[in-house]
Amino acid sequence: MSNRPTLVVANRKMHGNLPENQHFMQTLLQHTARHLARYAVCPPHPYLFQAQQLLQQSHIAWGAQNMSRYERGAYTGSVSPSMLREFGCTYVIIGHSERRQRGHDNDETCGERFEAALKAGLTPILCIGETLDEYEQGETDVVVSRQLNPVISHVGIQALSQGVIAYEPVWAIGTGKAASPQHVQAILSFVRGHIALLNPKVSEDITLLYGGSVQSHNAAQLLSLPDVDGSLVGGASLQVEEFLRITDIANAVAA
Ligand code: 13P
Repeated sequence: MSNRPTLVVANRKMHGNLPENQHFMQTLLQHTARHLARYAVCPPHPYLFQAQQLLQQSHIAWGAQNMSRYERGAYTGSVSPSMLREFGCTYVIIGHSERRQRGHDNDETCGERFEAALKAGLTPILCIGETLDEYEQGETDVVVSRQLNPVISHVGIQALSQGVIAYEPVWAIGTGKAASPQHVQAILSFVRGHIALLNPKVSEDITLLYGGSVQSHNAAQLLSLPDVDGSLVGGASLQVEEFLRITDIANAVAA
């Protein structure tokens, strides 16, 4: 057993509206009031103010799904790190594959975003993971190293520990087919080992999440793996009852 806390983050992607978000957040608040596991909710940007209103001074954190690497300027449609802080965000997701695939992010810009998040006092959740093709070629280790290394060179190994890393195989996202526990453990142990070569303390302390079709029927197996400290949950965070079942499992693992 590690001393790392268990963290479950709801990445609600481009879903929700004011009444539905309110129901989700209020139900989650009540249900998890005595939980040991930690939780965060990442709604679309316009709803961060609502999250702040509903969750401030509670045990649940909130965060954004993306941000600019710049603080200000002529970047139409972008949101800066300090704006997220102003709305009380603790977390920001960086380099989600849905953004990498559409050309919004790459390994280099993720390093810049990671640094900008830390500078603003946010905790970046860096997403890494291979495509189906890369998985079938047995290239997962190479891909996750390629995604991690520019971030490490950008911010330094010490600063890496102030963030969270989420391993999300692209082929497992939204498909209902989570990666096998063996694969998840092998990759997250590889990631921890990769970091340990640079700084064993950071590798021991850093929070590593798994994401990709986590649901109540597979959460117990995935969350109890030795190198998994929690999960980034997409689809299963859209139905509050299903998400609550995952929180109960996370809390049992955390106890
Ligand atoms: P699903 O849980 O819907 O597979 O999404 C995972 C994800 O992309 C979380 O960031």
